[in-house]
Amino acid sequence: MSETTPLRLGILGSGRGSNFVAVADACAAGAVKAQPCLVLSDVENAGILGHARTRQIPARHIPPGKFRTRLDDEAEQVWIHELQQAGVELVVLAGFMRVLKGNFLNAFAGRIVNIHPSLLPSFPGLEAWKQALDYGVKVTGCTVHFVDSGIDSGPIIGQQSVPVLDGDTAESLHERIQLAEHELYPLCVARLASRSMRIQGRRVIG
Ligand code: GAR
Repeated sequence: MSETTPLRLGILGSGRGSNFVAVADACAAGAVKAQPCLVLSDVENAGILGHARTRQIPARHIPPGKFRTRLDDEAEQVWIHELQQAGVELVVLAGFMRVLKGNFLNAFAGRIVNIHPSLLPSFPGLEAWKQALDYGVKVTGCTVHFVDSGIDSGPIIGQQSVPVLDGDTAESLHERIQLAEHELYPLCVARLASRSMRIQGRRVIG
């Protein structure tokens, strides 16, 4: 990675794309020294693809293959190839609802990050805001972390807390967490783009 050029981002998402919008708009505003180069989705009509095209960022739906929770081997090769062809340096998961496996992790070793809607290591996995509400915690939040071979288990880059209020529903809590996500993700990508981060064991410093 060069010191002077903006960090080249490949963004993967399956849904609405609000985190992508937060990161892309922070890049466009100059607050994050990075450039979204390619957006890929496993869902043909995902909102994230429309948001990318509106911003003139190349966006593609690539079929994920025969599995429900991951890319199959053939699809995985296509996804890796597309990202490499676009010169992507950092893969940013923004609501990507499939687990990435060995070949993908090896192709972008230490260069994949994710945002998760809880304060990890609490509530990994699906619908983390609902897990937090059902458990009865009074504080939850969001976490940006490196992706490893586990589920939401990689080294933590940044976290932001969010209160759980008495009248919360799953929807109102997720909405409040998303507002925090939209602040946290650009800040974390900015730190990654400054290329000053280092990892000591599980601790991400800088
Ligand atoms: C976000 O809340 C993100 O944390 C969550 O999906 C939502 C995507 O929203 N991701 C996960 O749960 C991953 N395990 P968006 O499409 O509007 O960015």
